[in-house]
Amino acid sequence: MSKQAWDNYWASGMHSCFPKNEITDTELKQVWNNSIKQLALKDHAQLLELGCGNGFLTEIIIASLTSIRHILNMMDYSQVQLDKVLASAQYETRVFQNTTIEQMPFNDASMDLVLANFSFEYADPDKAIQQVSRVLSKGGQFLFNIHAKNSFVSAISTNVCSGLQLMFKNKYLFANINEIIRLKQQLTDISHKTEIIAISRSVIDELKSMDIASNGGIGNSGVIEDILPIINTSNSMVSFSRLEHIWESYKLYQMRIQQQLEVGYDSDSIKILVKAFNQSAIDVSVKPIYIDGKLFSYMLQGVKRSN
Ligand SMILES: C[S@@+](CC[C@H](N)C(=O)[O-])C[C@H]1O[C@@H](n2cnc3c(N)ncnc32)[C@H](O)[C@@H]1O
Repeated sequence: MSKQAWDNYWASGMHSCFPKNEITDTELKQVWNNSIKQLALKDHAQLLELGCGNGFLTEIIIASLTSIRHILNMMDYSQVQLDKVLASAQYETRVFQNTTIEQMPFNDASMDLVLANFSFEYADPDKAIQQVSRVLSKGGQFLFNIHAKNSFVSAISTNVCSGLQLMFKNKYLFANINEIIRLKQQLTDISHKTEIIAISRSVIDELKSMDIASNGGIGNSGVIEDILPIINTSNSMVSFSRLEHIWESYKLYQMRIQQQLEVGYDSDSIKILVKAFNQSAIDVSVKPIYIDGKLFSYMLQGVKRSN
């Protein structure tokens, strides 16, 4: 089911996981640029990006690794759209869709560098560690940026999740918006208009009270911007199918960020993760990443032991 949530997200043309926060994307890009630049890579290196999505990290890899000839392999279990990003690649690129991190179609010891921006942690940890260890060559490295359980992003996501949960539990909201559409589609006389305004007000009031109850979760979800044009009395171009589409896409959105909350690591669970990597012949160091002075994620850097 979460695959469907990602398919839907990438099909909508999104480029990153944090489209509503430009500062996050800009600073994260900087973090990745610095991390990739300090890597020592051999010529003709084989690179593998896990869970590449629509290429937020792919674009950074392509732009920052121009002087080292390499083959860039990208995989994701979703239907991703990388054509735009790959158009600027100087070296060979290979895309593997419908491929899981738990069962990767790459030979043992075939990769010199494995990278992942918020994707490694979505897979089953034991299988993911086993696969990463299997495909890495001796001395091969990885860099994984993973969700932090207590980050400011998680706090926002928690509120958005509870706001959307309240919205889906509210029996009247969807019915009221449907009723507005029905009235708008009839020949509008003045009494219709008054009725539409009254129902629209109650929809806004409902949304406001759910926003307060979820600490701003409704406001941060973007749902208000989607619903306002539908209930606006001067907008006659509304349809039931548009509302259905909005509702379905917010259900998938909630599922997606709910999953993000579940896969986050804290300093204790990271210790267990590092130990599991060590048992798979990979030494790992962990660096917390701060954005705007607040905890954002953890960057894991690993090296496959040579002996
Ligand atoms: C949070 S997104 C990150 C996408 C991209 N790396 C970025 O930074 O924009 C997580 C990605 O991992 C993929 N994914 C989740 N679980 C996966 C699995 N078990 N195997 C392969 N891909 C997976 C999803 O389809 C999604 O594209």
